Amino acid sequence: MRIGFLHSIIRKDEKLLLAEFAKRSNVELEMIDDRNLVFDISKSNTNVDAVIERSINHSRALHAIRLFESYGIKCFNKGEVARICGDKLLTSIALEKHNVPQPKVMIAFTEESALEAIEKIGYPVVLKPAVGSWGRLLSKINDRDAAEAILEHKAILGSYHHSIFYIQKYVEKQGRDIRSFVVGEECIAAIYRTSEHWITNTAKGSVATNCPITNEIAELSIKAAESVGGGIVAIDLFETKDGLQVNEVNYTMEFKNSIETTGVNIPAKIVDYVIKNTEVK
Ligand SMILES: Nc1ncnc2c1ncn2[C@@H]1O[C@H](COP(=O)(O)OP(=O)(O)O)[C@@H](O)[C@H]1O
Ligand SMILES: [Mg+2]
Repeated sequence: MRIGFLHSIIRKDEKLLLAEFAKRSNVELEMIDDRNLVFDISKSNTNVDAVIERSINHSRALHAIRLFESYGIKCFNKGEVARICGDKLLTSIALEKHNVPQPKVMIAFTEESALEAIEKIGYPVVLKPAVGSWGRLLSKINDRDAAEAILEHKAILGSYHHSIFYIQKYVEKQGRDIRSFVVGEECIAAIYRTSEHWITNTAKGSVATNCPITNEIAELSIKAAESVGGGIVAIDLFETKDGLQVNEVNYTMEFKNSIETTGVNIPAKIVDYVIKNTEVK
């Protein structure tokens, strides 16, 4: 079978996936660099049987997947999954629809209404860009003075997207959160991400340790994955006194810090899944 490997720069995660694909004699890989890509709306630019998406840029990934899908090419992940996971608001809506527990979320469009929403939720709150990752541009707001300042800065200095205020209750998470990995119908691994900082992304330097997969973690992770359309996703979970909550679902998942930590060959599981779910044309 022929698999297209959609990429930007090749990071360690992509290298691990490429090494895994290289071991599979039935797969011929076509490297598709999103920096050189040109699409013709009326005819396909490739004859691959499927595409695995590993771009580092959400909008490129989303649009490329949509175009490949318009040619009838199956993509991992699906365009709909990329659309939902790439936008925290759409993710929250999907989780709510499927009764998946999540921190309280409110949305507002102006400084005044956002302040009202923040005070309704109660301090501290977290303000996030709906589209974003790696813990960038998150604000933990502890009081009204900070709320007013951040809202004003975002409204005046930010682009239009920063005045869609996604406001979430701050969850006391005892210095860590959980990142679980779902491939298809299985929760294959999980790590704790521990940090002295309230932002626990590994991109921000948190420490990863193995997290045993409890039934609760597995069930909630799979349910969260299904809520956004399934596939290959990584879930951020918060431990609260009322049980686990889903913070977000990531669709171009990074896993390089989690293979040795968990002892699970995550790239092999991903490659197995892609091969199993690709039909040769
Ligand atoms: N509501 C919250 N309460 C407590 N911590 C939070 C909250 N939202 C985010 N965080 C912290 O910030 C990190 C990044 O937030 P997240 O929503 O996952 O954005 P990103 O897409 O940038 O990873 C989380 O892993 C968590 O450590
Ligand atoms: Mg996250």
